[in-house]
Amino acid sequence: MDTTRPIVIAHRGASGLRPEHTLASYALAIEQGADFIEPDLVPTRDNVLVARHENNIADTTDVADHPEFADRRTSKTIDGVTATGWFTEDFTLAELKTLRARERLPQLRPDNAAYDGLFEIPTFAEVIALARGHNVGVYPETKHPTYFASIGHPTDALVLADLTAAGWNSADAPVFIQSFEIDNLKRLHTQTRVRLIQLIDADGAPADGAAPSYAAMATPEGLRAIAEYAHGIGPNKDMIRKGDAVPSRLVADAHAAGLKVHPWTFRAENFFLPASLRHGIDPRAHGDIQQAIARVLELGVDGFFTDFPLDGVQARDRFIAGR
Ligand code: G3P
Ligand code: CA
Repeated sequence: MDTTRPIVIAHRGASGLRPEHTLASYALAIEQGADFIEPDLVPTRDNVLVARHENNIADTTDVADHPEFADRRTSKTIDGVTATGWFTEDFTLAELKTLRARERLPQLRPDNAAYDGLFEIPTFAEVIALARGHNVGVYPETKHPTYFASIGHPTDALVLADLTAAGWNSADAPVFIQSFEIDNLKRLHTQTRVRLIQLIDADGAPADGAAPSYAAMATPEGLRAIAEYAHGIGPNKDMIRKGDAVPSRLVADAHAAGLKVHPWTFRAENFFLPASLRHGIDPRAHGDIQQAIARVLELGVDGFFTDFPLDGVQARDRFIAGR
């Protein structure tokens, strides 16, 4: 793939068009021209990484319809947030494979719900194999790495094991590893040459307590500290330009620190767009996502996450053609 141009990262696959984190979602993203597909990763009881945004699978699978798993329903507090449901670490991979995915946002994305019940939960190894077979990269995010390590699931080691098995544990592999935590990325920096991306949210602080706030991490001083171990940052796009407001200095400051910048997440529905880019008033209707992406490309970002990879590719290619 061409990494000299801004990269299109398919967020949870083509998750605007298929239930997220399914091979069907990733395959459509590849078909639409994405450069990278993004799996969020959580472990099973038998320490296999699978693609889910949360370890609680109540909202994105049909687990509630499986009476054989009714007694696995429980409540857990993870990174200070209590959730009730069914959790991947309480299931073997074989058990998870009996479940089927469901659309996370059926009210905003009713067409996607037509695919409910069709697709399995994929393993990270299956996602890598799909990407390898189509000459695209993977952009994995380990969710809650400190929490999972504390209960006996070393997810960052599992990521490296899967990448090594695929021959993709190297600096030139088409891989970025991302995390909202800091200390795990610093450890990974000593264990692998794979490029690392520090995620930064618009509010709050990393769950591992390794920085006082994300805001502090986004200052010129904070960015220089990140550059000691990471290849780039993955900021909430609002930190670059919130809605229709004046852009911040974040892209320039990150580039000055030697960091690449990959903001997240661009979505087509009016519900997610700034007022000036909406088409009509239906929150489900699609507005001008390509213009939203063009705005950050003009600020110099090196890539971006989107639920709609085809819009991402078209916006990126139009930007390059006009440059
Ligand atoms: O990883 C970039 C972006 O995906 C972070 O947000 O919550 O969608 O994983 P989330
Ligand atoms: Ca993610």
